[in-house]
Amino acid sequence: MHAASKAIFYALSRSAVLKRLASRHGLATPTSFASRFVAGETIESAIEVSRRLQSQGLLVTLDHLGERVGSIEESVTAARDYLRLLDAIVAAGVERNVSLKLTQLGIDIDYATCVDNLRSILEPASRHGCFVRIDMENSPYTARTLTIFETLWEQDYRNVGVVLQAYLRRTEADVHRMNQLGASVRLVKGAYRETAATAYTRTQDVDAAFLRLAKLLLDEGSLPAIATHDPVLIDAVRAYATKRRLARDRFEFEMLYGIRRDLQASLVATGYRVRVYVPFGHEWFPYFMRRLGERPANVVFVLRSLAAER
Ligand code: FDA
Repeated sequence: MHAASKAIFYALSRSAVLKRLASRHGLATPTSFASRFVAGETIESAIEVSRRLQSQGLLVTLDHLGERVGSIEESVTAARDYLRLLDAIVAAGVERNVSLKLTQLGIDIDYATCVDNLRSILEPASRHGCFVRIDMENSPYTARTLTIFETLWEQDYRNVGVVLQAYLRRTEADVHRMNQLGASVRLVKGAYRETAATAYTRTQDVDAAFLRLAKLLLDEGSLPAIATHDPVLIDAVRAYATKRRLARDRFEFEMLYGIRRDLQASLVATGYRVRVYVPFGHEWFPYFMRRLGERPANVVFVLRSLAAER
């Protein structure tokens, strides 16, 4: 994806007017344009989607969409939403695995509140055997996110893992540190707009870094998640894992809901663990815009759906 169009979609993802317009139409019905990528606005709809995915042999992680809360109260509400999600997951019997963002839990507002909010989720999650993955946001949050993660790790929370972004120049050192800790890492290419000083900006450099880091994780990591839809990288990871005689339950592939469903199914059919990231909630707009920014064809898909609905 060209940096320029990624930048445009990044800017649009922050537009309040577009967000209001999209909220009215995007998920109004199960066939609305955003429902290809977002599992509805409610916990119930996300659980229904998760059940369907699990019946196809896929694993899931549920993400209650939200980022950048504006007050301590909102961050506490976001943490409570996760507690409700945990209860619902346990009651419904779907897989116990969630993903969350620290800007949702107040990292911008108050560090201690953010840590408390996260701990308030990790405690019951741990009791229920639920794994919590901390998503990685743009580079101003990288160090702080890892510090919070490592603080809780030192406090013996083990049902938690992080995400590292292959496009960041710093990531190789972070991978080594996480491998030494024995922490589970989800490796992604990276979805935000970053400068050349911080990140690789050429596609081939990002892809090369991804494969190099994926190998490090396969060699020394703890249940790494290789999160990409890129068939070339997936094939390279499979080949490396086979060469190293790694059992198929020692790592997993992860993909986003609605993206490369064909590849998800074919990996499951060949015996790999494949986890689908299932996002839901009212705050779906920025997530959705990032997905459009990754692939121009998605814009055509949205326009077609809109035309069909008229
Ligand atoms: P790339 O963008 O090169 O795409 C490879 C191929 O995949 C494309 O040719 C196309 O076929 C398909 N594809 C990719 N994106 C598509 C789309 N939007 N629509 C349709 N097809 C598409 N990022 C981040 O910064 N922090 C995070 O915490 C996470 N978390 C996360 C979890 C999971 C499970 C996944 C899969 C991804 C993330 N990401 C993320 C997003 C990640 O950084 C990246 O932006 C996307 O995965 C797209 O990159 P690919 O690796 O798929 O490759």
